[in-house]
Amino acid sequence: MKAILIKEKGKTENLTVSEYQKPEPKNGFVLIKNKAFGINRAEIYMRKGKWGETHDIIGIEFVGMVENDSSNTFAKGQKVVSFVGGLARDYGGSYAEYVSVPLENIIPIETNLPWNELGAIPETYATAWAVLNWVLQAKKDQSILVRGGTSTVGLASIILAKQMGLTVFATSRSKEKFNILRQYGADYTILDNGEISKNIREISPDGVSNVIELIGNVTLNDSLGCVAVNGSICIAGFLGGLVPLKNFMPLMQIPSSVKLTSFGSAFVFGNKYFPYSKIPLQKIISDIENKSIPNILAKSYNFNEIIEAHKLMESNTVNGKIVVTI
Ligand SMILES: NC(=O)c1ccc[n+]([C@@H]2O[C@H](COP(=O)([O-])OP(=O)(O)OC[C@H]3O[C@@H](n4cnc5c(N)ncnc54)[C@H](OP(=O)(O)O)[C@@H]3O)[C@@H](O)[C@H]2O)c1
Repeated sequence: MKAILIKEKGKTENLTVSEYQKPEPKNGFVLIKNKAFGINRAEIYMRKGKWGETHDIIGIEFVGMVENDSSNTFAKGQKVVSFVGGLARDYGGSYAEYVSVPLENIIPIETNLPWNELGAIPETYATAWAVLNWVLQAKKDQSILVRGGTSTVGLASIILAKQMGLTVFATSRSKEKFNILRQYGADYTILDNGEISKNIREISPDGVSNVIELIGNVTLNDSLGCVAVNGSICIAGFLGGLVPLKNFMPLMQIPSSVKLTSFGSAFVFGNKYFPYSKIPLQKIISDIENKSIPNILAKSYNFNEIIEAHKLMESNTVNGKIVVTI
């Protein structure tokens, strides 16, 4: 089969379309013909060798059709999605024509969406849904700040939070992108210069009930200052880098009663507390198909254009999901 391999860890040009052995059908695993996969920040780090040990084939999500399921749970041709849960680490990732994944990591899907549109959904929407529902346990009529609002996880969070009936504050570092945030449903747009807690409290003096922190440690302290009494903040990204917090004094810096938590899909999706079967991806996909919520597909490439796809993600100029079709 064809697979995208990394000649040497580093620059985008090191990604090459090569021949690789097609996975053999094996017990407990389902062989899937890959039709499309989304590009993720994690794969940029994997390409650069900054994401620990990876499989030869990277890629943490994809959509496709069952080719062979030895358990006979799924018929050949069944549309399925799969994401994280060992992809690109414990077994080959999604940058390949065929992928073999454990049966329990597969979500069967009924949809007529084109493959590129379907490919834009799994990891991003599942993460946004999990942060809102499993972690923050956000409720209708509450408010939420999505810090890093124009990222794909940010946009999906805005969309799902609005659908749940929350008031949404969302940030970008450029005013020019405010129209994108509003287009996806943000009620308030905030220019992020690193210190926004004063702006948030000018609009909402008590603060916001929830925060999704996608910029990470660099803005965490300021985000803590945005949270209302008894509110919650979830760190789910690190767009601003991975520099550890210096001199962090929880008693002084976490406001009394505010809950500070985190979510990392790669660590938990698929375990017994965060099972794939509980993520309502079929509903999200159907809602997108019937246009009750928007998709966030920004640009599609073909398999041979992987270098352009990685370059585009690193340019930070696209707001939405980049998808590669096969
Ligand atoms: N927790 C999880 O399970 C999980 C799952 C998937 C992704 N993630 C993480 O979530 C974050 C978002 O991922 P994504 O794929 O959605 O990102 P993305 O779509 O590539 O995000 C692009 C946006 O990020 C903002 N940005 C880029 N560099 C930044 C910086 N240095 N400081 C502040 N903002 C910056 C820019 O927004 P503006 O120019 O508008 O400011 C840019 O438009 C990443 O850290 C990713 O690793 C986490």
